[in-house]
Amino acid sequence: MNVSHNTEQFECVVPHVPAIWDNRRTERVCPSKMTLRIETTNCCNFRCTFCPHASLKRSRGFMDDRIFEKIITEGAAAGFRKAFLSNFGEPLLDKKLARRIAFAKQAGFSNIAIFSNGSRLTSEWLSELAKAGLTTLNLSLSPIREFAETRPGVCVEEFIESLRTLRDNPDRKIIAVNYIKTGRSLPQEEKEFLAFLASIGLRLFSTFDEHNWGRDDSASAAPRVQNYLCPELWVTLNVIWTGQVQLCCVDQEGEYVLGNLAEDSITDVLESEAWRRIRSNHLKGQFLAKCAKCDVPAKAAGRSANMTLSCRYMLGMLRMYLSGTASIPPLGSAIRAVGRIYWNAFKKSLSRAAR
Ligand SMILES: C[S@@+](CC[C@H](N)C(=O)[O-])C[C@H]1O[C@@H](n2cnc3c(N)ncnc32)[C@H](O)[C@@H]1O
Ligand code: SF4
Ligand code: SF4
Repeated sequence: MNVSHNTEQFECVVPHVPAIWDNRRTERVCPSKMTLRIETTNCCNFRCTFCPHASLKRSRGFMDDRIFEKIITEGAAAGFRKAFLSNFGEPLLDKKLARRIAFAKQAGFSNIAIFSNGSRLTSEWLSELAKAGLTTLNLSLSPIREFAETRPGVCVEEFIESLRTLRDNPDRKIIAVNYIKTGRSLPQEEKEFLAFLASIGLRLFSTFDEHNWGRDDSASAAPRVQNYLCPELWVTLNVIWTGQVQLCCVDQEGEYVLGNLAEDSITDVLESEAWRRIRSNHLKGQFLAKCAKCDVPAKAAGRSANMTLSCRYMLGMLRMYLSGTASIPPLGSAIRAVGRIYWNAFKKSLSRAAR
């Protein structure tokens, strides 16, 4: 069965110069190399200042078991092995999470992760999730002052105390701390943050600069991103709690709907004409309006180069790889990421010289 779309919705309205050439990409995708991201809920108990969740217009709820099981079963059959059971909401608010993880594991998913704000994380629940088959719990944290300023209404002392209770739990090895940098913390505060994490047996796994959720309308936005291909179009299939497939995790309101897995099959959606057109246009540098305004690819390129060059990151990856909780990124991506950094520095110096 073909998935039908209003194809006008996917017209590329913002032509750009072609993005940096990447010969691995075609208009097709390979599920075994992709992540199936399923939003089991979009409810959230935080109002982070860097996240547009509080102003979300689409309805809020929890995924129906039938839809979840259909997506997981079809996803496994299509070749997916990696699942993120969170998207735009707080996954620990979903009481069925452990059961869903166990279902995905049993269906054949070997890598099952979530991103969480950590507010509902007790030591018991951590163990239950690990036992069910969760391989990585990405915990979104920040240095303490920045945490307090960006998570208004959260009692920081209580939150820290609850984190301390994880110290003696051996399952804390599945926790990977993720720090979204809003630029508020001083180097000394970041150092103290790392020391605090070490004191409770956690470690910083990755940092990411605050991105603009594809909502930058300023004139400087498009030129800033035009040279970056966005890997999201190739590496993730993003499904919200109703079963609707959206462009990516940044498409939080569903501006680009690519099917609904409550009815459509996962293979039909992946192979749909609309998706292939979006990818092939993107490869030609003809970006969707949202992509043209989005700084995620630019931030991700800088991040992967920094991560590649960071000893701590490499050691962290090696540790996770040896414990079977992560795969080592291919050398090719590392070389490309470093190449991009030098290419951009070169272009900047040319434009400075021209001024
Ligand atoms: C949308 S949240 C959903 C999962 C969960 N509620 C959490 O906060 O981890 C997923 C990730 O996006 C990050 N995030 C939110 N707004 C961001 C922004 N403007 N720039 C970069 N990352 C952001 C969060 O910190 C989190 O790591
Ligand atoms: S970043 Fe996560 S915790 Fe914060 S408001 Fe967004 S969804 Fe909620
Ligand atoms: S460029 Fe931004 S909006 Fe476009 S696919 Fe990538 S993350 Fe999504």
